[in-house]
Amino acid sequence: MKKNILIVPGDGIGQEVTAVGKKVLDKIAEKFGHEFVYDEALIGHVAIEATGEALPDESLQKMKNSDAVLFGAVGHPKYDNDPSAKVRPEQGLLKMRKELGLYANLRPIKLFDELLGASSIKPEILKGADILFFRELTGDIYFGEKGRKDNGDSAYDIATYSKFEVERIARKAFEAARTRRKKLCSVDKANVLETSRLWREVVQQVAKDYPDVEVEYQFVDATAMLLIKDPKRFDVVLTANLFGDILTDEASQIAGSMGMLASASIGDGTGVYEPIHGSAHDITGKGIANPMASVLSAALLLDISFGLKEESNAIINAVDAVLKAGFRTADIADASTPKEKILGTDAIGEEIIKRL
Ligand code: NAD
Ligand code: IPM
Ligand code: MN
Repeated sequence: MKKNILIVPGDGIGQEVTAVGKKVLDKIAEKFGHEFVYDEALIGHVAIEATGEALPDESLQKMKNSDAVLFGAVGHPKYDNDPSAKVRPEQGLLKMRKELGLYANLRPIKLFDELLGASSIKPEILKGADILFFRELTGDIYFGEKGRKDNGDSAYDIATYSKFEVERIARKAFEAARTRRKKLCSVDKANVLETSRLWREVVQQVAKDYPDVEVEYQFVDATAMLLIKDPKRFDVVLTANLFGDILTDEASQIAGSMGMLASASIGDGTGVYEPIHGSAHDITGKGIANPMASVLSAALLLDISFGLKEESNAIINAVDAVLKAGFRTADIADASTPKEKILGTDAIGEEIIKRL
């Protein structure tokens, strides 16, 4: 199979982990006889430095013209600490999602058994947890009108959803539930928010077409608690943009670390595959970032955009084998991990590649 893959590393550890994700794709191409043609594009702080824009047109065009995108992360402390900055790295990411129509962000929370001890949650609570989040990605408070009023003394961000936006992601989530344990939990704040009442109304309608899927509705605050209390009770979780952002960082602790969580952003055109973590400037340049989120994002890319299930599974199995062999990056090491088994970004990447 011949495909064009665009590598968009972005900022901070995005650069470090995406390099490993690409090497893994290279190894897959070699092993399975595919031809992956790569190009690179700028986004985020590095794009602002080079062009003044967080997502230059050239990058967007390259994204639209590629068969899939492997994205890293954006962000820089310079902007995090300067609320007045007008051009910001995160705008590049949001524009990419909007322009590519990436309305569904799939975030699988899968605990590798070997990492049972790496989480701060008790192993008996965690064992067997396997959740698939469907986070809506192009609507909500992220994309509504925002601004200042009262001479800058008040600020507002408006949350909006249309029935159309809710229905299209709800259908995707129900379809996915059918291929899994046939349970779907829709998460909202319908006791307070009008957008959430619309959300619930639409999901109730869509649910009628999927009588074989058991549906429950939870409020987001209760869900935050239930995720830690009893993660096994969830199968597919369907939720809005902001709630999904927050709940999946929380859920990363079920998988042991932010460094383990991959995601697929899909919609109308080119799919983008991205770790859920950010640019992590606290560890940038140290060579210790966990690249598994990027590697597992590459696995999602092969499966979802190219239909290469066997190749995708080969990557997941290689990650599993590295963990079984006892190798860890610092974020997933526990008290019992011997020092010599704690590897840096590139070294653990090599261990994964060796097992492919
Ligand atoms: P973060 O995800 O970058 O980091 C949170 C914590 O998790 C940090 O302690 C970090 O060291 C750790 N961590 C994250 N990924 C890791 C990995 N692969 N291996 C080991 N440890 C890892 O979130 P933050 O600190 O809140 O944000 C930093 C910057 O990243 C901000 O500018 C933010 O806007 C941006 N951000 C970008 C994205 C994205 O591009 N998708 C996502 C989240 C945050
Ligand atoms: C993520 C990030 C982004 C989001 C930010 C950086 C815009 O946190 O991908 O989860 O909120 O969607
Ligand atoms: Mn996030």
